[in-house]
Amino acid sequence: MHALCRAVSPAIADCELSFIGREAIDAALAQAQHLDYISALTRLGVSVTELPAEPDLPDSVFVEDTVLLFDELAVLTRPGAESRRAEVDAIAPAVQAVRKQVERISAPSTIDGGDVLRIGKRVFVGLSQRSNQSAIDQLADILKPFGYSVTAVPMQDCLHLKSAVTALSDDTLLINPDWVDAAYFKEYQQIRVDEHEPHAANVVRIDTSILMPLSFPKTQAIVEAAGYAVTAVDVSELQKAEGAVTCCSVLFTQWAI
Ligand code: GLY
Repeated sequence: MHALCRAVSPAIADCELSFIGREAIDAALAQAQHLDYISALTRLGVSVTELPAEPDLPDSVFVEDTVLLFDELAVLTRPGAESRRAEVDAIAPAVQAVRKQVERISAPSTIDGGDVLRIGKRVFVGLSQRSNQSAIDQLADILKPFGYSVTAVPMQDCLHLKSAVTALSDDTLLINPDWVDAAYFKEYQQIRVDEHEPHAANVVRIDTSILMPLSFPKTQAIVEAAGYAVTAVDVSELQKAEGAVTCCSVLFTQWAI
């Protein structure tokens, strides 16, 4: 497996925030935690390409929001927050190095990669403050020739769909049903986050291993009890920037095809 990551911007304290309050962010600690995150990915067998920090783009460590990487093609997004739109041009050269076909969501539509949950050929997209129906329609048109089905999912009270639900395997999800209607995922087994850890549904799946934040021990225990090997990383400073573990990488299985 491969990943694109980008070093933490020294301006991360100026990040966008939507559903959490602003707290002081220690940029140096965020950078150290991000290096630990990359080390954890590497230990789990991921080959990481680390792009340089972007001093003028506070949220640019959250690369997941800028591009959707499928086996067959890449789709550059148009992030919902205007301050984040330049991140797309910043990552485009790295994307063109790994995919021959690169499409792009066009204005005025907006979509953040954090709203896009792909499980096999199913693509679920959150109708969030950042992603709208017209972008979802564009994505569905782009992906249709490749056999993907795209489903828009209403959600509330959190930034991205993947704040509320991610996949532990091809048939099992980790979900906070307070933030998204679990009925949209009725064909999957569902494991609920601990009720005291609403932000715990965002995990990275690497084969049969799960990478998740250190700050959700109750949900970690639930996931481990379900049979998954969990690696926990301290991402407290990135969480203050309303980030999580999925948004710090763009994962893909094959280099250029
Ligand atoms: N700070 C992450 C975001 O709002 O996009």
